[in-house]
Amino acid sequence: MPAFPLILALETSCDETAVALCDGSGAMLGSAISSQIPDHQPYGGVVPELASRNHLLRIRPLLQQVLDETGRSLQDIDAFAATAGPGLASSLLIGSTLAKSLALACAKPYLAINHLEGHLLSPFLGKPDGLRPGAALVVSGGHTLLLHLRGPGDYPLLGRTRDDAAGEAFDKVARMLGLPYPGGPEIDRLARCGDPQAFDFPRSMKHSGDFAFSFSGLKTSMFYLLPTLGDQAASRLPDLCASFQEAVVDILVTKTLQAAHHLGARDVSVSGGVSCNSRLRAVFAQRCAQAGLALHLAAPAHTTDNAAMIAYAALQRFQAGQFSPLDADIDPNLALPSLPAESLASSPVPPL
Ligand code: KG4
Ligand code: ZN
Repeated sequence: MPAFPLILALETSCDETAVALCDGSGAMLGSAISSQIPDHQPYGGVVPELASRNHLLRIRPLLQQVLDETGRSLQDIDAFAATAGPGLASSLLIGSTLAKSLALACAKPYLAINHLEGHLLSPFLGKPDGLRPGAALVVSGGHTLLLHLRGPGDYPLLGRTRDDAAGEAFDKVARMLGLPYPGGPEIDRLARCGDPQAFDFPRSMKHSGDFAFSFSGLKTSMFYLLPTLGDQAASRLPDLCASFQEAVVDILVTKTLQAAHHLGARDVSVSGGVSCNSRLRAVFAQRCAQAGLALHLAAPAHTTDNAAMIAYAALQRFQAGQFSPLDADIDPNLALPSLPAESLASSPVPPL
């Protein structure tokens, strides 16, 4: 196996079609994304059938674009990777089938990559020191996970959401407020002109003594508040967004710092679509600095779904010699390799 492999990665787990090419140092030589947001916006969420059809139409031109832009051909590639789960089955199949076909045709290895591992490792993408062990928050549209990042492939789970993912809460609340899909960026934008203390939203499970999250109460609270505002709701939109966002950010940051403290970690990493949120990034920066913790935030371009993070995770697998068979299936519910949460939940969470 080459010491400095070229890895081509495909990401089609949801509504972004993406291709990236990285070299053995983890440097991204090329990366292209075709967003389907405008296609799904009229429906207020992702329509699986539409998503897979679009992946099928867009993946080959995107692949060609990355090869052309980097001046490489398929024969130069040392391994082909694709997201194998979690995600929408009909979407996952497009990227994984193409990656496996290319691996077969070029007689090169195939790497089936966990989408969550891609997000988890994305804060370290392109960093000369590589992965840093510590407390890791993965916060996206489908997942809210707190993990102990110990090293490549070793991510014991500390806690996860018991109901809605944080991004899902952003999207559902945005819908209640009449904002377009996806709601997270809209709430982020409107919140900049609002007062985060205007409304006192609940901080569910902030001091629950474990690392679990719950966001459905926050959403319900917004549901009952809106009718009481009557005609004022529209003019209070920035305040509503800022106050809701403040509650989500407070819970996420507090519990992640509790986890770092519990682990005795010096490093905190934050990834996933919601980690693009400007207030979340600012509060993490401020509170990690106060606590003397090193903060690793995914670059904004690598927060929402992309293939660069899949290429980077694939590189770790390649270097560990962990290849996947060509009959490796997709798994819409693929979990990260972790210990059961119960094994860690018995330890009390120390106060900050
Ligand atoms: O990681 P991602 O692209 O897809 C999943 O794997 O789920 O995350 C998408 C989620 C959506 O819920 C979207 O509303 C949220 O990330 N998001 C944001 C922001 N940008 C994207 N949430 C809050 N603030 C943002 N700026
Ligand atoms: Zn994602």
